[in-house]
Amino acid sequence: MKKDILSLLDLEVADFQYLFLRAIQLKKRFNQGISDRPLIGKSVGLIFDKKSTRTRISFETAMIQLGGTPIYMSAQDTQISRSEPPQDTARALSRYLDALVIRTFDHSMVETFAKHATIPVINALTDSFHPCQILSDIMTIIEVKGGYEGKKIVWIGDGNNVANSWVNAAAMLDLELVIATPKGYEVPERVKKSSAKRRSKTALANTPSKTTFTNDPLEAIKDADVVYTDVWASMGQESEQIKREADFKGFEVNKELLSYAKSDVIVMHCLPAHRGEEISEDVLEGSHSVVWDQAENKRHMHKAILETLILKTNI
Ligand code: CP
Ligand code: NVA
Repeated sequence: MKKDILSLLDLEVADFQYLFLRAIQLKKRFNQGISDRPLIGKSVGLIFDKKSTRTRISFETAMIQLGGTPIYMSAQDTQISRSEPPQDTARALSRYLDALVIRTFDHSMVETFAKHATIPVINALTDSFHPCQILSDIMTIIEVKGGYEGKKIVWIGDGNNVANSWVNAAAMLDLELVIATPKGYEVPERVKKSSAKRRSKTALANTPSKTTFTNDPLEAIKDADVVYTDVWASMGQESEQIKREADFKGFEVNKELLSYAKSDVIVMHCLPAHRGEEISEDVLEGSHSVVWDQAENKRHMHKAILETLILKTNI
């Protein structure tokens, strides 16, 4: 049976562990000059309805380096933009491709694709979730911090798609997560509920969740091992920019706020960043920042995801 990754709740705990190990292994081998080409003859389609720099190029280079072919399609250039139903597009593309990577607005769009495609569908960001981002970010935490167990991971900012995927991950992996958002910008209740429900079906069912939610960034960041932030207005929310700048006052990750975290804290951002808004220039460019390692690891994690889903290895 094919496997999709629409949200992190689609994975089993063992899948996470396998993907972390495999991505780290593929990275090591790539850096040693070893060429792994298990996807020769395979193709992945990338349908993007929103802008992207990192996700698109890291998926494309991942596929090329594994020996396969990526085919990029701007949604505007396909018949989707002329109202061809996604279920028809999904079935037609399944006759050509071995997997589909989709970035779009409404999460129900990737769900419809997954339901009708006979090939794996991978969510490359929707308004609701950004699962592959969090997989590569946890890989970065494992590399830099030696693991996520016993580490305090603090989100400072909007309760957005990236935050939602962190809440999903914390339900599956028993990591300590504190989400600090301004009032009115909290992670949606439906995300908290579906995460709790999914956790109750894992081996962690009887382990209390270590995820907490607050509107106080100062309280949240105390003794943090990892501080993560993201833009205040995500793609599609540009018209709310001015209002959000006012509502997010006090949520900039700057030197003052960071001084309450642990002295060896790492600062993460999925990028692109707005300097002087959610993060100060000196923190983004400072010694605690690991944002370029995060960007790099997207390629290695995407290799592991493509290989695993296309060849159905260990998943
Ligand atoms: N982090 C991330 O998804 O970046 P892009 O929007 O550039 O793909
Ligand atoms: N939350 C951001 C993430 C970009 C990678 C957005 O959706 O625009």
